[in-house]
Amino acid sequence: MKGLVYRGPHEVALETVEKPMLLADTDALIRVTLTTICGSDVHLCHAHIPTTPGYVLGHEYVGIVEQVGSKVSQFKPGDRVIGPAAPYCGQCERCLKGDIMHCMNGGVHGSGPEFGNLSGAQGEYMRIPYADVNLVHVPEQLEDEQVLFVGDILSTGYFAAEKAAIAHGDTVVVFGAGPVGLCAVQSAQLFHPERIILVDIDPFRLEAGLKLGATDTINAKEQDVLEVIGKLTGGKGADAVIEAAGAEITFQQAVKCAALCGRVVLVGIFGQPVSFPLHEAFMKNLRIEMGLSYLGHMKKLVKLIENGKIDLRSLITHRMSLNEVQEAFKLFEQRTEQVIKIAIRP
Ligand SMILES: NC(=O)c1ccc[n+]([C@@H]2O[C@H](COP(=O)([O-])OP(=O)(O)OC[C@H]3O[C@@H](n4cnc5c(N)ncnc54)[C@H](O)[C@@H]3O)[C@@H](O)[C@H]2O)c1
Ligand SMILES: [Zn+2]
Ligand SMILES: [Zn+2]
Repeated sequence: MKGLVYRGPHEVALETVEKPMLLADTDALIRVTLTTICGSDVHLCHAHIPTTPGYVLGHEYVGIVEQVGSKVSQFKPGDRVIGPAAPYCGQCERCLKGDIMHCMNGGVHGSGPEFGNLSGAQGEYMRIPYADVNLVHVPEQLEDEQVLFVGDILSTGYFAAEKAAIAHGDTVVVFGAGPVGLCAVQSAQLFHPERIILVDIDPFRLEAGLKLGATDTINAKEQDVLEVIGKLTGGKGADAVIEAAGAEITFQQAVKCAALCGRVVLVGIFGQPVSFPLHEAFMKNLRIEMGLSYLGHMKKLVKLIENGKIDLRSLITHRMSLNEVQEAFKLFEQRTEQVIKIAIRP
């Protein structure tokens, strides 16, 4: 089969690779019908996260079940499915505590031997471990594009909004209008805040945010972020802040723009240590949360999509085939065009 292989720092190549096969009786084999590229793939490609080369990349997918192991009871060949970027076993000590993020038998698809050696989504087929635990049926009336982001960036955006404990009438600030920040905006509006202020430096992405539920945007290149937030909140600051940019400056602004007893949630991943306005956070009694996102809400998110409460199709700015995946990778990374997400059909 064909797949986009990580060949070593800064090098990816579309190659013919071995088709995955069932390794355990709880596995399923799926044929990928739609996939996409994530910021994490770019981090892997540039060895910001060091991994052993030679594996197929990708961890966001929609697919059709081809084959199931003898112990898989909830899925059969022909079923249309999605699954989490980081599958889990559902039975280990961590999973039983609800901490599926740190499953002792888990890993991340398409991220190499260091992350469980699990099939990548930027190929024609994938092996899904613990299929009954991880896979989710896609309702017939939903298109692949509607559910493509559930297992990764939508779950992350929802995780951020949930951790931010947004109440009716709150003011929310989201830093970063990348795919994750935009999913956080769409998730935040489910909790009925009065305002969602979106901050980025890219006017195209800010505009995209307005369609997904942002009420105000701030271009950090042109405006004084803290001053504008101060004005919009009558000097009180934001009740809930989501940091989805992963930069030192946005982290500091996130702490500074939070109201007394506000919540700050960090979902951006920081490549380096950052300095922390601890005294300010302390004096304001802020609650700061962070971490790997929870991927156990997929069924609930599919329901919200079915009910029309979540619709992220507008994130898809480009549609390409697997044969063009190398080009897609470059475009996604270098943002030479106005790009948010690229849907790739094998
Ligand atoms: N917690 C998790 O489990 C999890 C899961 C997926 C991704 N992530 C992380 O979430 C973050 C966002 O991911 P993404 O795919 O949306 O990435 P992205 O790089 O596309 O988005 C970041 C956005 O921040 C904007 N930005 C840059 N400087 C800024 C500034 N000074 N002020 C405001 N905005 C600024 C960029 O223009 C961009 O739109 C990344 O750090 C990623 O690694 C975390
Ligand atoms: Zn991802
Ligand atoms: Zn587990």
